[in-house]
Amino acid sequence: MGLSPDRVSLAVNFAGVRFKNPVLVASGTFGFGREFARIYDLSLLGGICVKGTSLEPRKGNPPPRILETPSGMLNAIGLQNDGVESFVADKLPFLRQFDTKVVVNIVGNRVEDYAELAARLDDVEGVHALEINISCPNVEHGHEEFAADPAMTHRVVSAVRERTRLPVIPKLSPNVTDIRPFARACEEAGADGISLINTLVGTAIDIKTRTFRLANVTGGLSGPCIKPVALRMVYQAAQAVSIPVMGIGGIATAEDAIEFLLAGASCVQVGTVNFVDPLAPLSIIEGIREYLASNGFSSPSEIVGTVTRMQEPAT
Ligand SMILES: Cc1cc2nc3c(=O)[nH]c(=O)nc-3n(C[C@H](O)[C@H](O)[C@H](O)COP(=O)(O)O)c2cc1C
Repeated sequence: MGLSPDRVSLAVNFAGVRFKNPVLVASGTFGFGREFARIYDLSLLGGICVKGTSLEPRKGNPPPRILETPSGMLNAIGLQNDGVESFVADKLPFLRQFDTKVVVNIVGNRVEDYAELAARLDDVEGVHALEINISCPNVEHGHEEFAADPAMTHRVVSAVRERTRLPVIPKLSPNVTDIRPFARACEEAGADGISLINTLVGTAIDIKTRTFRLANVTGGLSGPCIKPVALRMVYQAAQAVSIPVMGIGGIATAEDAIEFLLAGASCVQVGTVNFVDPLAPLSIIEGIREYLASNGFSSPSEIVGTVTRMQEPAT
């Protein structure tokens, strides 16, 4: 029943974009690709989600702003970036030389900031889709409000939708009780797909000094420890909408990525593992190919959302 691996086509169509394989690298964990391009050819990736980009440059939060946790990390970077003009002038030309798709993660304080960013990036060569980051837990203004209220999510996504022809992919926060109304709000507002999850809000305390270990007090938890939560939310979101879902959260191996596809994700993003093993996205791509081939599937789309419940044992 197996196929030869060369008969598998890994290409996927997501939100109107053709990705050569279903593995992208997650925003904020890959910078703008420069450091990783010294290690491997970025054209091997399905796509690159760049670091969150705002209208104006942002300094981010003071240090310490990263720490390791059991099976994960907490970060409170606070969306440090050089702003959209610098992205277009300095970062994008480098990325354009690779045969991969570039998804720009945009972030703002007000609905109008998102709309303006969308308009600014609309016609820019080498930008293939917009990921709307309404879910960063590490900034003071705006985000909790955008990501914690389906009506606000709808407003932001609609405002972006009106100002761009690019595919619009809102990125959802796990810091809500029920993800489904948020997924539906995105679909109703005209999103082409959704991505989830962003980080979970966490903290850590140093018992010797009796102080918080992050200057910002709280940070975003990511890495393998969040995978079960992410997988559950991706499954629930995929059930709730008919637009495609990009699965993110703790993916470190091909097996992890395949779990997300089975749960209903059409593509995945690989984040924190890039800090631990920069080559992980490549082994994930090859591992997906081998899994599909050995199980007789010729495309990732054949397994998307095909997980079933366990059968009751026969008595
Ligand atoms: C250091 C760091 C910076 C991040 N910056 C961003 C960002 O700018 N925009 C965004 O949408 N997500 C950002 N994220 C969240 C990741 O893109 C991803 O959603 C999250 O880490 C969960 O995936 P993972 O467990 O594979 O890392 C960041 C994560 C980390 C660890």
